[in-house]
Amino acid sequence: MNLAGNKKSTLHYEERGAGVPLLLIHGFPFSGQMWAAQMAGLAGGARVLVPDLPGFGKSPAIRASSTVDQYAEDCFGVLDALDITEPAVIGGLSLGGYVALAAARLFPLRVRGLILASTRAGADSAEGKANRDKTIAQVKANGPSVVTESMYPKFLSPANYEEQPRVAGQVRDIMRGASPEGVIAALGAMRDRPDSSDLLPNLHMPVLIIHGKDDQLIPPSEAEAMAKAIPHNELRLLAKAGHLPNLEQPEEFNRIVKEFLSLLPTPGTTV
Ligand code: MLT
Repeated sequence: MNLAGNKKSTLHYEERGAGVPLLLIHGFPFSGQMWAAQMAGLAGGARVLVPDLPGFGKSPAIRASSTVDQYAEDCFGVLDALDITEPAVIGGLSLGGYVALAAARLFPLRVRGLILASTRAGADSAEGKANRDKTIAQVKANGPSVVTESMYPKFLSPANYEEQPRVAGQVRDIMRGASPEGVIAALGAMRDRPDSSDLLPNLHMPVLIIHGKDDQLIPPSEAEAMAKAIPHNELRLLAKAGHLPNLEQPEEFNRIVKEFLSLLPTPGTTV
């Protein structure tokens, strides 16, 4: 689809299927295209909604700077534009996971379940924040490709660059679509995101945590730490997957999500 035309959001989004609303938020520096295998594989049992964050894919940049809270509001603007008032399952990978956690904090009654893929609860360290600033300066000086190309070797499980050349090609293609404005705003949003650790014990909804065992960007220990702190969760660590398990092991990823959706309690009941 198109640009959601309500006053809260101008995000481009794709929509497929019917059933429980399942909003999937992409990682950095990608777009909703990274969820193509989930749109195809999950639309049989869910209404899959895939926005592009501002300045990525087909969404305009909207603002010079952003916060993860604003991204969460932008994503809920898509639900509002579609008049979806029932609680939705919100899933996010990496940056998308930071946004999903922000959504659970801001709109807890509108979140029926949470999927946290390849992400972490903590904020950036002082060193991490300084690196984001350096990266922003590099993007301003030279454009986003230097940054995205330097991240490229870390996205997949090392063996998958040879074993899954089609996926490696997709990763390159999708990240090349990122605009300088989008990349700069997202780096600032990630740098300034709050520490969500205190939120974890208060999450009232079921949470699915998925992480690649070979993630080179966010170690699986981060997923294990979230699982220890969240009351109702399932933790799945996927073999032969790095930072993008939904692309590297799409069938397994979809199978786990389908199982999670099938076990969701009816809205209004407690877990
Ligand atoms: C992502 O994959 O969204 C980013 O690598 C996350 C981050 O840099 O913190």
